[in-house]
Amino acid sequence: MNEYVEPPSQAVLAKRLGARKAVVGIIGLGYVGLPLAAACARAGFGTIGFDIDQSKIAQLNSGQPYIDAVSATELSGYVAGERFRATADFAGLGDCDVIIICVPTPLSRYREPDLRFVEETTEAIAQHLRVGQLVVLESTTYPGTTEEIVKPILERHGLKSGRDFFLGFSPEREDPGNATFRTVTIPKVVAGDGPAASSLIETFYSAVVDRVVAVSSPKVSEAVKITENVFRAVNIALVNELKVIYEAMGIDIWEVIEAAATKPFGYMPFYPGPGLGGHCIPIDPFYLTWKSREYGLTTRFIELAGEINISMPRYVVSKLENALDRYQQISLSAARILILGLAYKKNVRDIRESPSFELMDILEKRGSKVDFHDPHARTIPMTRAYSEFAGRRSVDLNAEVIQTYNVVLVATDHDDVDYKIIADNANLIIDTRNVFARNNISVVNILVKA
Ligand SMILES: NC(=O)c1ccc[n+]([C@@H]2O[C@H](COP(=O)([O-])OP(=O)(O)OC[C@H]3O[C@@H](n4cnc5c(N)ncnc54)[C@H](O)[C@@H]3O)[C@@H](O)[C@H]2O)c1
Repeated sequence: MNEYVEPPSQAVLAKRLGARKAVVGIIGLGYVGLPLAAACARAGFGTIGFDIDQSKIAQLNSGQPYIDAVSATELSGYVAGERFRATADFAGLGDCDVIIICVPTPLSRYREPDLRFVEETTEAIAQHLRVGQLVVLESTTYPGTTEEIVKPILERHGLKSGRDFFLGFSPEREDPGNATFRTVTIPKVVAGDGPAASSLIETFYSAVVDRVVAVSSPKVSEAVKITENVFRAVNIALVNELKVIYEAMGIDIWEVIEAAATKPFGYMPFYPGPGLGGHCIPIDPFYLTWKSREYGLTTRFIELAGEINISMPRYVVSKLENALDRYQQISLSAARILILGLAYKKNVRDIRESPSFELMDILEKRGSKVDFHDPHARTIPMTRAYSEFAGRRSVDLNAEVIQTYNVVLVATDHDDVDYKIIADNANLIIDTRNVFARNNISVVNILVKA
C-alpha cells in the first residue's frame, strides 16, 4: 500500500487558514451564502462574495443586507473594514484560497434535479482554478454530485483533486427565522475528497463555526443533508395524514401532538399545515428519488410523503368551501377571502414554494376574490410559477377591512400579526396553524381548523 504523502500545497493552505490570511470566495449570496459570508468575515477571513445579480451586489456593497440573518450594522462594518465585498467579476476567484458554492439547486419542470447553476459555477471556477485552492460545494444535492459532476469539470484543465487543488462537500443547515441557532452555532458536517482535502476542510470550518462533524466522503456528507430533509418531509406528511383522519373522528390533531410531545423520549413533534413550502423540503427529497433510479430503486416513502403534502392545499380549500356553505350560505365564487401569510413559514419573508400561492391560485380559479396580508412579504415579486400575482400588495388590517371579507384563511402564523383584532372582527376564520388556540385567543364568530 502506498503511504500517504502530504502534497506541499496542503501545508501552505493550512498555514494561511491558521493565520487567517486565506481569502474566502462565496459564490451565490442568497439565504445560505450571505450568512456564511458574514460568518467567514467574522472569523477574520477576507471574504469576497460572487453573484450574478447586480442589484444584490450593489445593495450588499452599500452595507445593506436583504435578509434578516445578517444585520446592516455587521455588514456595513465588514464593508468599511474591507473584510467583505461583493462582485460579479469571477476573475477574482483566482485570488481566493477557499471557494464555496452556494447556488440554487431547483427541480426541472419534470421534477428532476436541475444542476445548471452548480455546473455553470463550477465551469467558472475551473477557468481560474490554481494550485492550492480548496473548493467546497454547499448546495443541497444528491449523493455523488461532488465527485461525479464537480470534480471532472474542475480537473478538465489538468489539475488533480487531492494533489493540486482540494475538493469537498459540506451541507448547509441554515434555518431562516430560527432565533435559537445561527450559522456559527449549528454543527457543520464536512467531508473531503481524499485525506488532504478532509484535513483542510475541517481546519477551515473549525475556524468559522463552533463544531465540525467530519464524515468519510463527500457522498456521505451529501446523503446526510438529504436524510435530514427527507426525515422532515415524511414526518410532516404523516401528521398531515393524521390530521385528516382525526378530523373525521372528531379529534383535534393539535391537542394530540401537544400531549404526545410530553413523552420525554422516542417522539418528536411535527406540525400539520396547508402544504409544504420553502426551497428545501418540497424539492430536495426528489433529488434522491432521481438518483435512486440509477440503482433500479424507488423511494416509496418520499413519493408517498410528496403525494400527501401536495394534496394539502386542496384539502384546506374543501374545508373552506364547506364552511362558507354552512356558515354563510355562499359559494366560493361569491366569496371575498383574506389569506393571512404569504411566506412559507412564520417570521420570514421567504415566499419560495409557499402554499399560499397555490391556495390563492385555486381560490381565484374558482371565482373568489382573494387578498393577502403579510407583514414580512408586502409585495409579491415576479415568480416563474405565479407571474400573474406579481405586484400585488399586502392589505393593511383594521376592524372595518377585516369585516369586509367572508373568511380569513390563516396560512402562516407570523408572530407580529394582531390576531385579537382578527378574532374580534372576522366573519369566519379557517386556521391551518392553530394560532388562535395556541395563543388562547377566543374567536367571536366561527373558527374552523383545517
Ligand atoms: N434557504 C435555506 O434555508 C437553505 C437551507 C439549506 C440548504 N439550502 C441550499 O443551499 C443552496 C442555495 O440556496 P439559497 O436558499 O441560498 O438560494 P438563494 O436563491 O437564496 O440564493 C442563491 C444565490 O445564488 C445566485 N446565483 C445563481 N446562479 C449563480 C451563478 N451562476 N453564479 C453566482 N451566483 C449565482 C443568485 O443570484 C442568488 O443570490 C440550495 O442548494 C439550497 O437547497 C438552502
